[in-house]
Amino acid sequence: MMQAQIDEIRREAEAFKLDDAAALEDFRLRYLSKKGALNGLFEAFRGLYGKEKRTVGPAINQLKNELEQKWDDAKKFLDANSTADNSATRTSRKKGIDEEDLSLPAAPMPRGGLHPISLVRRDVVSFFATLGFTLSEGMEMVDDWHNFGALNFAEDHPAREMQDTFFVQTNPDILLRTHTSSVQVKEMQLGNLPIRTLSPGRVYRNETVSARSHMQFHQIEGLYIDEQVSFGDLRLTLNLFAEHFFGSDAKIRFRPSYFPFTEPSAEMDVSCFLCKQEGCTVCKHTGWVEILGCGMVDPQVLEHCGIDSQRYSGFAFGMGIERLTMLRYQIRDIRHFFENDLQFLRQFSGE
Ligand code: DAH
Repeated sequence: MMQAQIDEIRREAEAFKLDDAAALEDFRLRYLSKKGALNGLFEAFRGLYGKEKRTVGPAINQLKNELEQKWDDAKKFLDANSTADNSATRTSRKKGIDEEDLSLPAAPMPRGGLHPISLVRRDVVSFFATLGFTLSEGMEMVDDWHNFGALNFAEDHPAREMQDTFFVQTNPDILLRTHTSSVQVKEMQLGNLPIRTLSPGRVYRNETVSARSHMQFHQIEGLYIDEQVSFGDLRLTLNLFAEHFFGSDAKIRFRPSYFPFTEPSAEMDVSCFLCKQEGCTVCKHTGWVEILGCGMVDPQVLEHCGIDSQRYSGFAFGMGIERLTMLRYQIRDIRHFFENDLQFLRQFSGE
C-alpha cells in the first residue's frame, strides 16, 4: 500500500522541472522540507508493523536519497551557470539603471597555456628574428630529393634505410621528413637571395620510443646564404644564440663532425649551465652539453638547388627543440611532450 504511494511521489518528483531558483525552492518545500512529502512518508512508516515495515523503510530512504540528489545536482548546475553568466545578470537585473558594481571581482575564467615545445620554439624564433631571420616552413611529407638527394645523401647512405625513415607504402619516393633540412632545399630552390631563414617543424624517424628518443620530434633549421658568408659568421651567430638561450656566461665549442650537406661540419656544445662545468649528470661530467649540428653549406648542395656556388656561400644549423626544452626545464623523459598529461602541461601555463 505504502509502496504505491512511494512510487507515485517518485513519478511526480522525477517529472518536476528544476530550471530556475524558484522551481528549486518549490521542490524543496514540496518534498524535502519538514512539511514535505518525505516527512509524511516517514510519519506513516512509524505506524507500520512487521514485514511491511522492513521493506518500506529502505524504500523511503532510497527515495529520499534520489530526491536530495536531484535537488543538489540542479542547484550546482544553476549556481555554476549563474557565475558564468554573472556579468549578464548583473546588468539585466538593473536594466535601465546605470549602476553596475565595477568593484566586484570578475568571474573566474580557466586559462590555457602554451605547450613547453611551443614556448621554446617561440623563444628561439623570436631571437633569430632580431638577427633578421625570417620564418619558413615546409611540408612534413616530402620526396626523397628534398629530404636526401639534394642534400648529398648518397643512394646507399645508412640514413635512407628503412629502419630510420617512414616511407609512404604506395610510393617509396615519398616519406615523412626525417629532418627540417628538407626546408633548406625548398628555400634554396625558390632562390630569393640572400636567404636568411629559420624553419621550425615536426620530423619523424622510425625509432623505438624511449625516455631519450621518440619517433616524432621537432627541429629548428637555420640557413643563411649570401656572398662571402664565412664560418666566423656561423660562430658569431650561434654564440649570440647560446648567450640568449643559456645565459650571458654561456660558452660554446665546436667539434668537427660529418653531415653530407655541409663542409666543413661541426657539432656545437654549450658549457653546462646547470653545474657551471663542475660536472653533473646532465653533462655526463664533461662540463659540456651537445646542442646542435651545423656547418658551411656544401657547394654541391648549392648547385643542386640552382645557386651559383662560385658567387654564394652559406651556413646552416639544425637543433632539436625537445632537447632544448628538456635542458631548459630539466625534463628527463621525452615522452612527456606527447602524452597530453594535464598535470605535466599545467606546470608551464604561467610562462
Ligand atoms: N639535419 C641534421 C639532423 O637531423 C641536423 C643538421 C646538421 C642540420 C647540420 C643542419 C646542419 O642544417 O648544418 O641530424
